[in-house]
Amino acid sequence: TRFFVPRDSAAVALGADEIADALKACANSKGIDVRIVRTGSRGMHWLEPLVEVETADGGRLAFGPVDLADVDSVFAAATTGGSHRLAIGDPQDHPFIKGQTRLTFERCGIIDPASLDDYKAHGGYRGLANALKLEPQDIVATVTQSGLRGRGGAGFPTGIKWDTVLKARADQKYIVCNADEGDSGTFADRMVMEGDPFLLIEGMTIAGIAVGATQGYIYVRSEYPLAIDALNTAIKAAEKGGALGKAIMGSDKEFHLEVRVGAGAYVCGEETALLDSLEGKRGTVRAKPPLPAHKGLFGQPTVINNVLSLAAVPTILDKGAEFYRDFGMGRSRGTMPIQLAGNIKYGGLYEVAFGVTLGELVNEIGGGTASGRPVRAVQVGGPLGAYFPVSMFDTPFDYEAFAAKDGLIGHGGIVVFDDTVDMARQARFAMEFCAVESCGKCTPCRVGSTRGVEVLDRIIRGENRIEQTMLLEDLCHTLKFGSLCALGGFTPYPVMSALTHFPEDFGITPPKHQ
Ligand code: NAI
Ligand code: SF4
Repeated sequence: TRFFVPRDSAAVALGADEIADALKACANSKGIDVRIVRTGSRGMHWLEPLVEVETADGGRLAFGPVDLADVDSVFAAATTGGSHRLAIGDPQDHPFIKGQTRLTFERCGIIDPASLDDYKAHGGYRGLANALKLEPQDIVATVTQSGLRGRGGAGFPTGIKWDTVLKARADQKYIVCNADEGDSGTFADRMVMEGDPFLLIEGMTIAGIAVGATQGYIYVRSEYPLAIDALNTAIKAAEKGGALGKAIMGSDKEFHLEVRVGAGAYVCGEETALLDSLEGKRGTVRAKPPLPAHKGLFGQPTVINNVLSLAAVPTILDKGAEFYRDFGMGRSRGTMPIQLAGNIKYGGLYEVAFGVTLGELVNEIGGGTASGRPVRAVQVGGPLGAYFPVSMFDTPFDYEAFAAKDGLIGHGGIVVFDDTVDMARQARFAMEFCAVESCGKCTPCRVGSTRGVEVLDRIIRGENRIEQTMLLEDLCHTLKFGSLCALGGFTPYPVMSALTHFPEDFGITPPKHQ
């Protein structure tokens, strides 16, 4: 009998390792032969640790959330087909899974992330096999036609970025994966790396073949030890299996991959600071131009993409640009792995085509707050994203729709707050975050964020509120237009959205400028 227990960080934090050990011990004590496969997570975090058992017909039955005290009874129910209060049936039929369009997360939670054979048995490496039959410019054209846009947050067309690197002349080009997932409430990159690392490896290999780069680096944040481990295991297996290294899948193509570990600075998620850090320097933002596509890692043409952008590529090369393009709305094509976090009842990973509304995501799919109190605000797009009130819940998940309302979808993280939240404190938190994480290269961010915290403190204390609020608006304007990178440039989003939509928390009437 095969049991499946996630080794995803969220599940492990909730005791999945202990559950896996206890299941094994339980089987041993009964003299039953079982195999425990450690998988990624299905992304239903409220059900973790989620234990699954393979049924005779190859399907699965799941139980969750499993506590140590439940292990014996879950084991009995799983092996005899008996009923159990934690049973949720086949996870594929669960409404949270059924409602999704899982392209990137198709295999996550199902396969063994350490097994190349398992990846291939579930459709892995079909995209690379197709890519190897194409000319480089046709691979790039396929990605361009799919409409894929950078999933790190900026939404720049991936195919155009690749085309720039393809056309650049250099002896050495690089593929760099930005896996410095630093946004609050985001975990999709981590889930891919822990649950389906070959997908990222395949995407990077395709990128390398497409633009003529033979070396790739995955820059992972140090806070993700299990992801680092899973990637290194998968890289070794891919090399051994002929899918990475020299003569990829029997072709004349070559691509090598290494993992590099960050040191805990949020700004190293900014692409040029990341490149500096990869080069062994302090992570400081570089002025653009030159773009990394022209002069990136070690001054060479470099594709730098987020985990989710690269992980979308194998599906596009496997099923075609049209298939991918058919999902979504407007200029936002394909699917987005949305991360539901904060004070939410059904938190987790929900991959769906662009166009779903914020209200559907928070109230229907997420089930409202975990506290049971009314939702008051949601922050979309990480610590630099805007706070949206419930009155804006009709906004569809789409790059342009959010930008039109002074917000951003960023990396797809949604953090929910109930009616006990103090939005002036949240605005202060955003400014303080900027002050703490600033790389210090430019004045609006380095000095402005510190002054911003002081101004917000005065507003919170009730000192000259009208005057201080005008000063805050002025400062935000300077930060937005005078900063070198998105850290300083986007900090005004959470601050100004809190002020605009929740002026009562600042003790003022709504400002007239909007
Ligand atoms: P950007 O708009 O400057 O650039 C986007 C990407 O397109 C970059 O890789 C850039 O090099 C590339 N690019 C631009 N023009 C190009 C051209 N003509 N040819 C080839 N490549 C070109 O945005 P930036 O500063 O890279 O990212 C800002 C975003 O980062 C924000 O929208 C924010 O949501 C997001 N962000 C994400 C975080 C995360 O943890 N994932 C954390 C913080 C911010
Ligand atoms: Fe550095 Fe802040 Fe300027 Fe970005 S905005 S370059 S983080 S000082």
